[in-house]
Amino acid sequence: MPLFIESPAHPDVPPAPRPLAPGAVVLPGFGTAVGEALLDTIASLAVQAPFRHMCTPGGRQMSVGMTNCGQWGWISDRQGYRYSALDPDSDRPWPELPAFFLALATTAATAAGFTGFTPNACLINRYAPGTQLSLHQDKDERDFTAPIVSVSLGLSAMFLFGGTRRAAPAQRVPLAHGDVVVWGGPARLFHHGISPLAKGCHPLTGGLRFNLTFRRAG
Ligand code: SIN
Ligand code: FE2
Repeated sequence: MPLFIESPAHPDVPPAPRPLAPGAVVLPGFGTAVGEALLDTIASLAVQAPFRHMCTPGGRQMSVGMTNCGQWGWISDRQGYRYSALDPDSDRPWPELPAFFLALATTAATAAGFTGFTPNACLINRYAPGTQLSLHQDKDERDFTAPIVSVSLGLSAMFLFGGTRRAAPAQRVPLAHGDVVVWGGPARLFHHGISPLAKGCHPLTGGLRFNLTFRRAG
């Protein structure tokens, strides 16, 4: 007989991981304990490297506000999608990846079965109501052996998680403040995106959602 019966209502028992596909899992609430600290730190990082709306190679302005921290920052402009060690708006290096950001990403990856994840890039996304991110693959990294770790903060959003083919049917996965998604291995190149953000009010972010995406860029 088990000595301890897990109860979903018990506050000390973390919610169970929710598998999405082989290599992909949602870790509900994995980042909640540091959520407020992450948001405070995002605010100070954005003083050094402000959020901006980048241009796609096709010339459209992205509705998601973006900035980066870490050795490499993801950028988009008329020349294409790529990683840059310098913030093109200031020609200065991106702010350093804070140690507790790194710790969260590594422990989340480990919890998802990917040990030894040491990201060197952290894309910070900001969504206002109506903002969306269409289905895409994260494929600008130099090798695909490292997973992607994605942390949701503030307003909830509908995450779309498809497959290798863009036309593959996408699962609709609601993500709340503190939820972490990890995808790697056979799911590393799966298409994903965010449905237009619904209006709302979150006690920590008001009408906004933030997302941190940790990657091993190069
Ligand atoms: C991304 O794919 O870069 C971000 C996904 C998210 O905002 O949850
Ligand atoms: Fe992505």
